[in-house]
Amino acid sequence: MEQENSTTVTEFILLGFAGQHKFWHILFVVFLVIYVIILMGNIGMILLIKINSGLHTPMYFFLQHLAFVDLCYSSAITPKMLQNFIRTEKSISFIGCLVQLLVYGAFATSDLYLLAAMAVDRYVAICNPLHYPVVMSQRVCIQLLAGSYFMGFLNGSVNTSFTFSLNFCKSNAINHFFCDEPPILALACSNIYFNIMLLSVFVGFNLVFTILVIIFSYTYILSAILKISSTAGRKKAFSTCASHLTAVTIFYGALSYMYLHHSTTETQEQEKAASVFYGIMVPMINPVIYSLRNREVKEALKGIRKKFF
Ligand SMILES: *[C@@H]1O[C@H](CO)[C@@H](O)[C@H](O)[C@H]1NC(C)=O
Repeated sequence: MEQENSTTVTEFILLGFAGQHKFWHILFVVFLVIYVIILMGNIGMILLIKINSGLHTPMYFFLQHLAFVDLCYSSAITPKMLQNFIRTEKSISFIGCLVQLLVYGAFATSDLYLLAAMAVDRYVAICNPLHYPVVMSQRVCIQLLAGSYFMGFLNGSVNTSFTFSLNFCKSNAINHFFCDEPPILALACSNIYFNIMLLSVFVGFNLVFTILVIIFSYTYILSAILKISSTAGRKKAFSTCASHLTAVTIFYGALSYMYLHHSTTETQEQEKAASVFYGIMVPMINPVIYSLRNREVKEALKGIRKKFF
């Protein structure tokens, strides 16, 4: 059956933001540089862990997957965004938009769960060092990993399928740099109440659950560290979780800024810029934190340098 008068959307336009051409070109260069750093940093981290048997521990197992997840979700949005920075026609196909939402929603959520798994790993390592090899066995690590990916794909697939089963007839212009859920919902002519509820439940649960795991783990870690009598011992225990704690703080800081900072003083343009900035900064910063602040990673890098240069 053909419906002549209702236009079906076959592609979307990503409006990005209102601004001059010159500015778009500057953004292109800035984001290109950031994206190259993301690719090099995360691929480098994955390879470094792979070839270094000293880094074959649960912590680095999760870190390797964190780098992979960061690569995936930044690659879902950045190349298209870069292309649209320099093209006058800023379109994305219906399927392209769906894939962006799915991959972004899935991997951004897996990221949260991996950070929580790493907190649990640090908790066992510091509070229960004698049982560490038994508790964080390969099987447990794989289960935690599988759980992280599962929760990610659950979030991505459920939210994406309900979003794209809506009718789009108003307009196809998405007021954002990439296909994120809220700006897509704004284009629907069906009732979006259920979708908003669903998204809130998923985002709320994933955020609250993982942050609670992290807070509990670090509360125990902190009290265990404070009980250590020697300063050197305290420092050593703390240094094993310092980079993770930094990454967690940045990630949740960015997220809470994004979700809680819907202030009236900020224009919609600034909000879009902030969401893109954080979406792309986190995957860039993660490998930097782990390679600069971490003695083991530094040593592994030094070993490679000695071998090859
Ligand atoms: C879940 O997926 C949706 C849509 O794909 C996304 O907007 C949202 O950010 C994801 N939730 C979390 C906690 O990342």
